[in-house]
Order: sequence, then C-alpha cells, then structure tokens
Amino acid sequence: MDPLRNPYAPGAGNPPPALAGRGRLREQVQIAIGRLRLGRSAKSVLMVGLRGVGKTVMLDQMRSDAEASGVCTVRAETPENRSLPGLLAPQLRLALLRLSRTASAKESANHALKALAGFAKALKIKFHDIEVGFDAEPQPGLADNGDLEGDLAVLLEEVGRAAQAAKTALVLFIDELQYLPEEQFGALISALHRCAQNRLPVTVVGAGLPQLRGLAGDAKSYAERLFEFPVIDALKEPEARIAIEKPARDEGVVYTPQAIAEILLQTHGYPYFLQEWGKHSWDVAQSSPITLEDVRAASIQAIAALDESFFRVRFDRLTPSEKKYLRAMAELGPGPHRSGDISAVLGKSVSALAPLRQSIIAKGMIWSPSHGDTAFTVPLFDDFMKRIVPGPNWKTD
Ligand SMILES: Nc1ncnc2c1ncn2[C@@H]1O[C@H](COP(=O)(O)OP(=O)(O)O)[C@@H](O)[C@H]1O
Ligand SMILES: [Mg+2]
Repeated sequence: MDPLRNPYAPGAGNPPPALAGRGRLREQVQIAIGRLRLGRSAKSVLMVGLRGVGKTVMLDQMRSDAEASGVCTVRAETPENRSLPGLLAPQLRLALLRLSRTASAKESANHALKALAGFAKALKIKFHDIEVGFDAEPQPGLADNGDLEGDLAVLLEEVGRAAQAAKTALVLFIDELQYLPEEQFGALISALHRCAQNRLPVTVVGAGLPQLRGLAGDAKSYAERLFEFPVIDALKEPEARIAIEKPARDEGVVYTPQAIAEILLQTHGYPYFLQEWGKHSWDVAQSSPITLEDVRAASIQAIAALDESFFRVRFDRLTPSEKKYLRAMAELGPGPHRSGDISAVLGKSVSALAPLRQSIIAKGMIWSPSHGDTAFTVPLFDDFMKRIVPGPNWKTD
C-alpha cells in the first residue's frame, strides 16, 4: 500500500502512532508531579525495562504532559562519555532563567543562579565538560565546595525554592540512567533526598535497563524508599492489538484476524517489533485487508530490518570474546541462564569468565535478574545471535 501513508514508526525514541497500554503509568506520573507542586510527598519514578519496550517514548510523552500543565522540565540522556553535572548545568540555567520571569520567583531564581555559578566553577576542576554561561556571580559558600554530593544537593534545593516560589515544580527527565557512574548517581539520589526532606518540588523521572534498580541501591542504600521502579514490558495482547490495528484503521485499513495473530506471535508484543512488523506488513500488502500471507512475507523483511538496525548497533560494539559469550547464551535459549551453564557451554570456569560477563553488563547487553543468573537486555536477542553467528562451528571459528 501507499508507503507515503504508512503510519508505523519503528526506531529508537520515535513516537508511535498509537501509544498503547501506558495510560495508567502516564497518569500516575502526572499525579506524582501534581502532588509535589502542592507541597505533598511523591516518590521519584525510574522506569525500567528491556531495549525497545518504549521507555524513551514514555519519557518524552511524560515530559510534554508536564510542560502542558506548566511544570518546568529538564531533559537529559546519560551518554557514556559525559558527566551528569556537565549535562545538567546548562539545562538548569535555562530552567532558572525561565523561572526568573515569574515575578514571585525572581529573587529565588537569581539566588539559584548564583548557586549554579558556584557549582560550575568549583566542579569544573573535576568535571571538565561543565560549560555554562554565567548570569550571576557566585556567592562564596553557596554550592561551591567542589564536592559533587554536597554541591548538587544545595543547587537542587535552591532550584527547588525557585520552582516553589513560581508555584510549579522542576522535573528532571533523564534517559539511559544505567550508564551513570555510581558516584554521580549517588549524588543525584542524595540531592533528591534532601529536596524530599524539605518538601521542595523537585523530582526525577528516569528510564534505564533493568539493572538500574540494583545500581540505585548500590549507589545509596535508601534509594528503594525514594523511588518507584515501574517495569515497562512487552504489551499484553489487547494492547498490542491496538498498537497494530488503530494506526491502520485511522487510514481506513484493516487486518484479517489471522494476520493479527501472526504479528502477535512473531513480535511477542514488544513495541519496537510491533512497529517494524506493522510497517512492513503495510508496505507488502496490495490492499486492505492485510492478510496472513502479507504478514508472512513482511516477517522476512522485518527481521532483516531489525538485524541491520536494532540488533546490529548493539552487536557491533562487542569484542570477539563478548560475542562468543552471548552466542553461548543463545545456544541455551532465550534465558535467563545460570552462569554455570553458560560457562559449561564455553568449557571454562565461571570465575575465569566473570570479568568478561562484567564488561558485557557494563555495555548494557546483559543483566543479572538474580544472583548467578544472566539475561539479555534486548528481547529476542538469542535468535539474532544464532542468525548472525550460525552453527555448528561457532565455538572454534
Ligand atoms: N506503547 C507503545 N505502543 C506502540 N508502540 C510503541 C509504544 N512504546 C514505544 N513504541 C515504539 O517502540 C519503539 C521503541 O521505543 P523506545 O521508546 O525507543 O524504546 P526504549 O527506549 O525502551 O528502547 C519505537 O518505534 C516506538 O514508536
Ligand atoms: Mg530508549
């Protein structure tokens, strides 16, 4: 059918034509932010889930929900080579300049800009990537100790006072939080804790891979009390149907029941895969309704497209021995797998493989759902590994 009208949107962070099945969580976050604005308590939210389940899309949606209700927001993504202070400083500056335009918040926002100046100046020695314009002179003793944990707490507190004076809240939307180094994560948690104790309207809505929950606890033992960790997962059958059917129906196109059943079977309800299957089914079909035959033909193209993009970008970042470890996991099936079983496939000891396993965890490819267990962070990655490193000689090649 007409590719110009193809409604589906596969791709990291691409807003889907129908954001299926996430209404409750969206509402929960709106309520939490609304409560903070009223000076009531609410936990920060860290969404956790595998790659391609729709975390980034939710983060952006929640951010526009918040902006629409007059909340001050900051958006950042933890990259693997920049610091959190470096990322946040310019964004906080913009937020403060915005807050300073509200008459009731002018004074406190200007005070917070002094804190930001002190913060940036003192921490620049440690975090070279802090680049921020100065709108105020630092005030000696205000957020300028040069110790991230203390200074960030003071800075966020000052920003919180400005938000409070403007009768709004400041929400930090941060993606890929699993890449945040422990010290910086600890400082962020501790600063949020301070704001919560002072009933200041500052919170984080974050997203990351499933290991994020453990990393938060490692950084600060009280993290569990400060955060909710809603799990973003594959869509359940009725929601997955909506994700596929609604965008087509809006264009006057329907699927046969067998076609839908095949898409659900192939995608397991994972949002990224649903978009990819929808896109290719649409392109293959000559006319409505889209049939089982269309979907079968589309499956080949959808898998090829995923292999070249979604799976490939992760695979290309691995060393040969890391690839071999993942291939051994794939040999055992979708997982999770016991470390001992993976080692046995490779004919090595668990302890000999421990550093390798750790480096694959750090790259965000696998995680440990419970002690001694290892699971992929990318859905259906086991099938991909078998396609890209086919048997039977993979161990010796
Ligand atoms: N609730 C949803 N319903 C339908 N499609 C979705 C939904 N959430 C995300 N998607 C689609 O899934 C893909 C991956 O979304 P993304 O937010 O990048 O996932 P993640 O950040 O978890 O890796 C995108 O193509 C997006 O359009
Ligand atoms: Mg994402």
